[in-house]
Amino acid sequence: MQVVASGLEGVCVADSRISLVDGQAGRLILRGVHLHDLGDKSFEELARFLWEVPLENLGEARLRVAPALRELLPLAHGLAPIEWLRLALDRLPDTKNPADWVAALGVALALRRHPAAEPDPQADHVSDVARMAGLKWPDGLRRYWICVAEHGMNASTFTARVVASTRAGQRAALSAALGALQGPLHGGAPGPVLDMLDELQQAPDPEDWFRHKLARGERLMGFGHRIYRVRDPRAEVLRVACQKLAEQSSELAERLRFAERMEKLATAVLAAHKPGRVLQTNVEYYTALLLEAIGFEREEFTAVFACGRVLGWLAHIFEQEKEGRLIRPEVRYVGPLPDER
Ligand code: ACO
Repeated sequence: MQVVASGLEGVCVADSRISLVDGQAGRLILRGVHLHDLGDKSFEELARFLWEVPLENLGEARLRVAPALRELLPLAHGLAPIEWLRLALDRLPDTKNPADWVAALGVALALRRHPAAEPDPQADHVSDVARMAGLKWPDGLRRYWICVAEHGMNASTFTARVVASTRAGQRAALSAALGALQGPLHGGAPGPVLDMLDELQQAPDPEDWFRHKLARGERLMGFGHRIYRVRDPRAEVLRVACQKLAEQSSELAERLRFAERMEKLATAVLAAHKPGRVLQTNVEYYTALLLEAIGFEREEFTAVFACGRVLGWLAHIFEQEKEGRLIRPEVRYVGPLPDER
């Protein structure tokens, strides 16, 4: 009898040298280094650190992809930002240079906000995308992208590896990963986190609000994780990043204090609601606050996530291309059989 691991929980699908997500101890280690020791790296440095192939000049790549993306911009109308990124990637002239894929996502994100913006090839990637997009705090964006660049065999990375394993190519693998990231159980959670905080701010009794939501069978966005049985270590990295920015913004300082209070309350209510399952804060909770403070709209949050996670997707695609075999699991058939009489 075949055994089904629901949601592939506990199934190990590959050996990897890229990252260790230690769900029991709450550690995230990238190529042998703790995430919190990588916080000063530039985006380009992190790409070189994660990748097994050289990163060519990202500034030149931004310049190269911008005209084609600008031509595609009219097609962005009516699409969610993450869908626009997927379309932009799918229609970009083919390239053998992975820097082009990374550049394309950042430039597409920025051009959607400011269609006339021009890349500056001399600038570092984060500062340039932040300037083109008209954002306030480039260092906040850098901290965010470093924090979310890589995270083991999550749903979108697995998707990228499955597609890479068929030898469909990097574009197809990244495009599929963007699709997987879009869902609210994965990269689509931070927008709803802000909606939740807004509702809580109006609620006469936040604890009661949490209880009612859970009683209706709904999930609290920004809490729970497949791997972590403690608080997601990225939540603290991003909370501290918010704290740093809050030194310059009293509005954020107030929002952060409120979010911290709600975090305590939510985890206590979740513990009472599901005593058998640790449901702690995940990366998306403080992502929401940070991206809002930097100047992004809620609907853009998942697309911003993708522009950082693309480094991890590509690291896994390279590893899959080098060592991997076609990924092709089985399914246990539980339907009817034909009448053989
Ligand atoms: N709020 C309320 N209940 C929850 C939550 C939550 N946030 N998370 C899990 N549960 C409950 C489930 O309903 C389930 O209860 P049941 O056994 O009575 O059905 C139980 O806890 C176990 O949950 P699973 O669905 O088995 O957990 P899984 O590992 O499949 O899911 C996930 C992890 C998707 C992150 C889940 O915790 C969730 O939906 N969280 C909210 C959405 C979210 O924040 N997503 C971002 C994740 S981080 C990232 O991907 C970048």
